[in-house]
Amino acid sequence: MKYNFNKIVNRQETYSMKHDPVSRGKPKDVIPMWVADMDFPAPPCVTSAIEEYARHGIFGYSEPDAAYVATIQSWFLQRFNWHVEREWLIVTVGVVNAIYVAVRALTEIGDGVVIQQPVYYPFELSVRQTGRKLLVNQLVYENERYVIDFDDFEAKIKQAKMFILCNPHNPVGRVWTREELTRMGEICLKHNVTVVADEIWQDFIYPNHKHLVFSKLTHEFADITITATAPSKTFNLAGLQLANIFITNKEMRRKFNMEYAACGLSQPSIMGLVSCRAAYEHGAEWLDELLVYLAENMALISSFLQQRIPKIKLIEPEATYLAWLDCSALDLSQRELDETITHKAKLWINDGTRFGMGGEGFQRINVACPREVLEEALLRLESTFKLS
Ligand SMILES: Cc1ncc(COP(=O)(O)O)c(C=O)c1O
Repeated sequence: MKYNFNKIVNRQETYSMKHDPVSRGKPKDVIPMWVADMDFPAPPCVTSAIEEYARHGIFGYSEPDAAYVATIQSWFLQRFNWHVEREWLIVTVGVVNAIYVAVRALTEIGDGVVIQQPVYYPFELSVRQTGRKLLVNQLVYENERYVIDFDDFEAKIKQAKMFILCNPHNPVGRVWTREELTRMGEICLKHNVTVVADEIWQDFIYPNHKHLVFSKLTHEFADITITATAPSKTFNLAGLQLANIFITNKEMRRKFNMEYAACGLSQPSIMGLVSCRAAYEHGAEWLDELLVYLAENMALISSFLQQRIPKIKLIEPEATYLAWLDCSALDLSQRELDETITHKAKLWINDGTRFGMGGEGFQRINVACPREVLEEALLRLESTFKLS
């Protein structure tokens, strides 16, 4: 490998939210494996681009230019065979920000919004905090895998104005298939429901799976969809605050832009633009190596649990660097489970209930860290649970 993902970088006192346990009431000696950022430095091409811009030294208001747009177009064409038009693109400060803006722009207070829990928790917040009605199409957990209950999906969509799709899905790790996406899309079309397709995890796909851009499946789907993407998960740039949102439907785009402006947000972060362009232009090789490393981390956690803590089961991830662990066989209450992991195993991971319905008995662990850190975390889990 050209890039060294084994190197441990000290992130304490670097403004890292992930690495400041005490300020969030956790013991100071926990291993932080919770929020979805990686303990790997961004690719060298990104760091160099930022350094070069820093030397320029002028940090005024910034805007995406033609070269930025061309880079974005080329990335999506190469990685997903998706041709995006210049006018579809809206750069925002993040995907979560774009979800809130979409909810406000395209639904009214009291309107129903469907999400598929267990799911990334800001989805629920974006519905509740904007005074919309939360409709949960709970994913069905069967044979250690998650599937969609389409009857329930349609029943919920009938009462809704919007559906927030998570593809690939955080935390259950599914890459939705063409059949599943098509069925969901047709149901949304039939009931005039707008889709927000959060595809922020689209670059983290494991072998034998393929990410399909929902909006690209048919023209009709494109016409009802807002697609949210970002370089932030992929290249570890979350602190640089930038997302690329695509809206093909002109009227939806107009409403989105008006609502975005009404938030008082204008130009995007200069370092966001600089880093996104550098990563999409020169970061593909780094990403390909990262994916191999992450797949090995997933394989390690899978075999370790099977051999040494069989009561904890890894849900086979098809995507993301988040391992979703079924801990129900440990027979602990959610509180006991969470406290044991935090205070005995000394791991800072995410309690499953944080992701809403269907999260009981689960924990989510972020494996985007050097191998040695993951090994230490697994040993801690083993010594905590080996007698249970
Ligand atoms: C599904 C999903 N959407 C959005 C985000 C965050 O996006 P942003 O930082 O651009 O708001 C995350 C972060 O983990 C995520 O998992």
